[in-house]
Amino acid sequence: MADRRSAAREARPYENADLSVRARVSDLLSRMTLEEKVGQMTQTERGSVYDDATPITTWKVGSVLSGGGSVPTPNTPKAWADMVDRFQRAALATRLRIPIVYGIDSVHGDGNMLGATVFPHNIGLGATRDPELARKAAHVTAEETRASGPQWTFAPCVCVALDDRWGRTYESFGEDPRLVARFEKAIDGFQGPPGHLDDGDRVLATAKHYAGDGDADYGTSTNVDGYTIDQGIAVTNRRAFWRNSLSPYVPAVRRHKVGSVMPSYSSVDWTEDGLGNPIRMHANRELISGLLKEKLGFRGFVISDWQGIHHIPGDWATQVRTSVNAGIDMFMEPTAYQSFETTLLAEVNAGRVSMDRIDDAVRRILRKKFELGLFEHPFTDRTRIDEIGSRAHRALARRAVAKSQVLLKNRHRTLPLRPGRHVYVAGSNADDIGNQAGGWTLSWQGGSSDEIPGTTILDGIRAAVRGRNVTHSADASAPVPEGSVGVVVVGETPYAEGFGDVGGPQWSDDGVPRPVKDMQLSAADRLAVDRVCEAAARCVVIVVSGRPLIIERAQLEEVDALVAAWLPGSEGAGVADTLFGRRPFTGKLPVSWPRTLAQEPINVGDRDYDPLYPFGWGLRTR
Ligand code: BGC
Ligand code: BGC
Repeated sequence: MADRRSAAREARPYENADLSVRARVSDLLSRMTLEEKVGQMTQTERGSVYDDATPITTWKVGSVLSGGGSVPTPNTPKAWADMVDRFQRAALATRLRIPIVYGIDSVHGDGNMLGATVFPHNIGLGATRDPELARKAAHVTAEETRASGPQWTFAPCVCVALDDRWGRTYESFGEDPRLVARFEKAIDGFQGPPGHLDDGDRVLATAKHYAGDGDADYGTSTNVDGYTIDQGIAVTNRRAFWRNSLSPYVPAVRRHKVGSVMPSYSSVDWTEDGLGNPIRMHANRELISGLLKEKLGFRGFVISDWQGIHHIPGDWATQVRTSVNAGIDMFMEPTAYQSFETTLLAEVNAGRVSMDRIDDAVRRILRKKFELGLFEHPFTDRTRIDEIGSRAHRALARRAVAKSQVLLKNRHRTLPLRPGRHVYVAGSNADDIGNQAGGWTLSWQGGSSDEIPGTTILDGIRAAVRGRNVTHSADASAPVPEGSVGVVVVGETPYAEGFGDVGGPQWSDDGVPRPVKDMQLSAADRLAVDRVCEAAARCVVIVVSGRPLIIERAQLEEVDALVAAWLPGSEGAGVADTLFGRRPFTGKLPVSWPRTLAQEPINVGDRDYDPLYPFGWGLRTR
């Protein structure tokens, strides 16, 4: 102890863990050059420094991220930790030895990492109506993320998805801002109680995308690839925008003390001052500096979205200056990080960005780095690395899956299924773990695959009927045995930003375009439902999707039981748990389920509200 004390006295004050974070931040700040400060405000992407990490040292970069699907080779927990530590060594080679913070989209588990526990996407968690469960899921996610290196997640999305045609609807806990606010307990799961950010099983959280990402009008997207909603414009009045889009940030900041906030790619066009003058959220000084920081008292830092400032009107210098002056503190610049630094430096030297603004940004970033314990433990604490994908973690995910199932229809009490009957399984999503995980899993847009360790819904059904006969025929071409019960698992193929927008561009895999996103069942799935429901004694349809899909009236008539399974992730067995009554159905709709696509956007509280199933709907079983 005496030795440690004297060593601490010799160290520079900011290196002394016995001092307060506040004292350490101001000591460190007072030693930094402008170049070093600008470096702290800069985040580059893994791909730019993977082969050669020296730019982290030479450009004094403050942070590195992994974009969707940006992974080390091989994609193992150990390789992740080795990579993050290698980048960290490059950061510690700088004059002041300021560590980097590594960020990643652990939005439903650490989906980028092979072998991680993959939880249901947020829309499924919203259906559980159990924020405590979401907190536990976030804690496991934090543990698996931090044990493999990254100390920061770009989650949770506290978006309120108002138009289900939006391809990010599944990242939302639901269409009701109060429901979303309740699920901000996820922030506690990520960050732990106050003062615990430096624990080996916690990460810094991000409330995103500030604000109005789920409120953009269909057809207003300004994205050049042809998105229809994402990156669009919320045309709205101030009161409605406050209620639908800003209100979730109040508890995120005040109650849950979220460590970072990411602005939205979208814009807001207030109706009060006439139409046609939208403001990009990345340029919105009133809402970032004014509301978030000054009025709400946000003490963390604001991280721009991926090249988000490139969407601001004007030349590069204007984009940099406008966004810094709007209040953004750190800049996600996967490739342009060097020119970002030189440009910001020039803007400060020209007096167009104040030193006060720079100091505010750097102070906020350093505060979180100290709180994360990075100065004391810059390298990955690998004690929990074997917990990644553990049985206990998967058991929690499986429970979350079961609780997220929403029973929409249950004629003749078809569900739960009674043991004894032969089960006939069909449909495109019965045996595809990639489809049931959705976007942001192993890659940005996700993909159909059997690569993710875990169980498919079919695996779960097989295990549940133990040994008894199951027929699996995806297209329902195999004959349906007399007296059997049919389970047809239909739904979407994966998508993420933009490519999931209805009417948006089609993502393609090696030149093969994915099915169009239109919120309809595919022709093959419709046919499978017809065949099975016609021949089986009873038929159950399970919809695996990131949002409600339109079920035509005639088809709905054929179906005995209908279940919304959302995007359950790696533990498909949780779906089987409710089918066979191992767990009851208790889930409730977090969004309104429309009758027709023309009803979108449709939300609880609308005038003439007439959905197929209302917000909150969900039958219970015992
Ligand atoms: C998304 C963010 C994400 C970031 C990093 C952006 O395109 O909008 O939600 O955190 O990429 O992958
Ligand atoms: C990255 C994502 C990012 C997106 C933004 C992708 O290439 O992998 O992380 O969100 O680009 O356009």
